[in-house]
Amino acid sequence: MKTLPSPSEISEVPLDWCNADAVTSSVMEAVSFVTPVLENFFIRTVVEGSRAHKDAELAQRCQAFIREESNHSLVHKKFNALLLNHLGKQPPALAMVSALLDRAARRMSLSRRLALAAALEHLAAVISKLYVGQQFRLTFASDFARELFAMHAREELAHRSVVFDLWLSNGASSHINRIMTIALVLLAGAGYVAIAVPWILHRKTGRHFAKTFFSLSAFTARNFRDTLTYTPVVELLSFVRRDYHPESLIDDAHVGGV
Ligand SMILES: [Fe+2]
Ligand SMILES: [Fe+2]
Repeated sequence: MKTLPSPSEISEVPLDWCNADAVTSSVMEAVSFVTPVLENFFIRTVVEGSRAHKDAELAQRCQAFIREESNHSLVHKKFNALLLNHLGKQPPALAMVSALLDRAARRMSLSRRLALAAALEHLAAVISKLYVGQQFRLTFASDFARELFAMHAREELAHRSVVFDLWLSNGASSHINRIMTIALVLLAGAGYVAIAVPWILHRKTGRHFAKTFFSLSAFTARNFRDTLTYTPVVELLSFVRRDYHPESLIDDAHVGGV
């Protein structure tokens, strides 16, 4: 598998670098900012979960997972540092995500944290599948950004089962916990996007409230039908099925061929 490009290849990032559109760029930036925060939680949880079982093959997959997520975090942090040239600071909504994950790390059992990490990885895999299928619609003013997001989506799809299998090997939680966990993940994810995207857009418009409002309204009107058509609701909710396994999300032959 190809690896993500070296951070030294990052050059300057234009303000509206994706689709020459401020809202699309803001959505991508919200994803990029939250990535290292989530991946830090995955890595800590998988390191702890790996100590609790004796399966050598799963241990190897966990090691590869940790290496990949560490690399994703490293490269996104470099990319995010360039985005800060325009934004001045990170979206305040990141503090909400960090606080939730810190609380989970302190208070939840290992099995519950693995369930949470598995649900977040499920969300990442579903979004990555959507991204891989729809990226032909996106144009990039930054080659590095195009490569970064494409590589990340492919690697998320390729390692989509690792945390889930680790969770199962540590004794998966009850069906009701699975429902609660994915509901929490979807709710927190929607909340983060709903706060972070307008905040980033507001900064991009020079903190102009009316421009922010009209850009968001026009974007929503333009993309309303596609959003209804392409939002993978059934796949997002498939996590609650008792027989669900991430392998069923995609044929691996497609992952390598994209
Ligand atoms: Fe990742
Ligand atoms: Fe991942």
